[in-house]
Amino acid sequence: MVTARVLQQQILHAVEALRAGELVAFPTETVYGLGANANNPEAVRKIFQVKGRPSTHPVIVHIDHPRYLQRWVREMPPEGKKLADAFWPGPLTIVAKRAPAVNDVITGGQDTVAIRVPNHPIAQQLLNAFGGGIAAPSANRYGRVSPTRAEHVREEFEDEVEIILDGGDCKVGLESTIVSCVGDVPYVLRPGSISLSQLRAVCPSIQVGPNPSAPRVPGTTARHYSPATPLNVVPSRRLEQVMNEFTSKGEKVAVLAQRPPATANPYMTWVNAGIRPDHYSRQLYANLRTLDKAGAKIILVEEVPEGEKWDAARDRLRRAASAENIVTYDQDIAAWVADFGEEGGPTR
Ligand code: TXA
Ligand code: MG
Repeated sequence: MVTARVLQQQILHAVEALRAGELVAFPTETVYGLGANANNPEAVRKIFQVKGRPSTHPVIVHIDHPRYLQRWVREMPPEGKKLADAFWPGPLTIVAKRAPAVNDVITGGQDTVAIRVPNHPIAQQLLNAFGGGIAAPSANRYGRVSPTRAEHVREEFEDEVEIILDGGDCKVGLESTIVSCVGDVPYVLRPGSISLSQLRAVCPSIQVGPNPSAPRVPGTTARHYSPATPLNVVPSRRLEQVMNEFTSKGEKVAVLAQRPPATANPYMTWVNAGIRPDHYSRQLYANLRTLDKAGAKIILVEEVPEGEKWDAARDRLRRAASAENIVTYDQDIAAWVADFGEEGGPTR
């Protein structure tokens, strides 16, 4: 951590960089963002180049306060206002009809824009000092694990960004909850740390699940948030059995579990992430990065419990795994895991 004075200098440096069309990485309470001046399409294009992200994927515009909303949004329905009052600043992104001046590079050519007011002191100071919108996706290469520490950003983008503001570990650790407020009823497009019941307490009509009229949410499709090592989600009671399929052949396995291992095994790297959903989520991406470096053939993740407090972690794990990842260590188990991944529960 740096002193307040050094931080102030770094923020001024970051503001100058944003004004000059450069990229700046900054912490939010969810994950680190890779930011550009949202009013400068050339600067926003750099984000796509650096991340290797398809140009049709829209990015979130961050502002320090709803006072700037009108610059970006032409219409905020009552449900959107209620959600903003209840959860901003915080880990909520609202999708609304875009204002005419918003550039296509931000919206991916759609008629909507995603807005968030983050609740991290450094993000707030940066946005205050900059005085405008900062377009920022998560500061990771396309499809990879999001960064929750400054060092994660440094590992991937040291040379491409003008400055990386260090805010330590992100408190939430998973990306914001995204709610679309453009249709007849509001829809959760991406689960996050704000649970469905918390959202419904404010806005009872809110829906989840597939919605044909909802806007496209690129980046929530399969195979995202992935380590380079293939990842499978495995039911708790079969974890050791599946692990042994590999280790008995002398192959290394990396495990993310919620308990200690039943037996010692020299071929495993085992992380016990515990049973608290907030703590598990906060550490999830850092744990996946650690396990990715273990030199293992596969990462096995113990299936997380039922219940809405686990929705966001379950969603990210399902996307971190994918059918193409499934190593056929055992036909029966592979089929079981494949079913599990698609349906969210065992079919036999
Ligand atoms: O927590 C977060 O949301 C972090 C921090 C940095 O704010 N940002 C983040 O950005 O996760 P990104 O780009 O990795 O994910 C944003 C998601 C993408 O799936 C994108 O497709 C979707 O939001 N999105 C952006 N604008 C949209 C729009 N107009 N309509 C529907 N989805 C949109
Ligand atoms: Mg992302």
